[in-house]
Amino acid sequence: MKSIAPKDRAGAGEIAGLHARLAVAEETLRAIRSGEVDVVLVTAKQGVQLFTLDGAEHAYRVLIESMNEGALMLTADKTILYANQCFARMVNCPLERVIGSSFGRFLGTEDRARLRLLLQRTPAAGAKIQVLLQVSSGAQMPGSLSIRPLVRKGGKSVTFGIVLTDMTEARRSEELLRTLTNRVVQAQEAERGHLAHELHDTVTQMLCAVLVRSHTLADRLPARNQPAKRAAEALDEIIRDTVVEVERISRNLRPSVLDQLGLVAGLRDTGTDFANRTGIPVKMVCVHLTVRLPADTELALYRILQETLKNVEKHARARHVTVRLAKLDEVVQFTITDDGIGFDPDHIGARSKGEGGFGLLGIRERAISVGGIFRIKSVRRVGTEIDIRIPLRPAVCVV
Ligand SMILES: Nc1ncnc2c1ncn2[C@@H]1O[C@H](COP(=O)(O)OP(=O)(O)O)[C@@H](O)[C@H]1O
Ligand SMILES: [Mg+2]
Repeated sequence: MKSIAPKDRAGAGEIAGLHARLAVAEETLRAIRSGEVDVVLVTAKQGVQLFTLDGAEHAYRVLIESMNEGALMLTADKTILYANQCFARMVNCPLERVIGSSFGRFLGTEDRARLRLLLQRTPAAGAKIQVLLQVSSGAQMPGSLSIRPLVRKGGKSVTFGIVLTDMTEARRSEELLRTLTNRVVQAQEAERGHLAHELHDTVTQMLCAVLVRSHTLADRLPARNQPAKRAAEALDEIIRDTVVEVERISRNLRPSVLDQLGLVAGLRDTGTDFANRTGIPVKMVCVHLTVRLPADTELALYRILQETLKNVEKHARARHVTVRLAKLDEVVQFTITDDGIGFDPDHIGARSKGEGGFGLLGIRERAISVGGIFRIKSVRRVGTEIDIRIPLRPAVCVV
């Protein structure tokens, strides 16, 4: 007969105890998942805290477990009271190691701080933030967190319901759209350059030849043939105007003014052209730039002004336009304001992608492509403001 030493007996008892605790833990997790648990006790620094899971009916649990989004319930200090399987899959961590741990471990330092602030101040209506989830082995997943406080009946304790949406595909689509828009913008620039070249080399040259001949014709017609002389002079005038107009179109197509005279001159030219053509005065408030900005930044700002003025002419019914170019610290700030009818920018996104309306989208992409930020503020019957901010690259310094 085998006898067990008291020490071994103690060890075996410990193992049996651990087995029993593991079985209880597994059973608890199973029960939480299947919706059989209504209360969770968490041992925290302040002692044991009790959390009842409101609305823990089985049907809701099944619904949440079958969701394609991560669902979580957090305490104010970010301890995960509940998580669905989808969340565990997203962070690539077994559910039993997720529940009871801190949600903060799946976030970077910055996102952790933003979430902490939000949990302190989340309004009853909830809030949304974009985060980068830190998944196992250093991988990251872009996600959108919808947070809503869940106030306990009668008590002060607040938990938070969180729905986490995987934004990987959405980001990929945005990235693709951005790349395509960039290509369209580049192709447009190349095509404009080509057109400007053609106009200059063929149409303008031919018009100039016609102009010389019409001039000679008007000169040679005898003074006694007044009607014919006047007609020839009128023709001469029309051709002269046409040459100027073709030159203007060509200049707009390929802004050689930027290369020759710089951004401020280019912006002023565009503003003056617009004011002359439409009768809407343009106030230009431009900082004196002693150092040239990068060529792509200058071209972007120049095109943004052209596109914005096109919108003012087409949609705004404005009486005044103000264009400001300023430098705040190391950021170039460019704003175009009109006092027109305004519109609701929130309803533009879908339209812009659908029925043409490439203007505002193009403006945004141009700003982003040179590292800038695009904002639009518009109030009905007050007007619209396009605001672009572009940080200067270290090598460029504007005084
Ligand atoms: N300055 C403005 N004033 C009033 N509405 C504007 C202004 N700029 C843009 N919009 C509105 O935004 C819409 C989208 O503009 P945009 O993307 O340039 O497309 P499009 O000019 O081809 O319609 C316009 O159709 C117009 O309703
Ligand atoms: Mg437009």
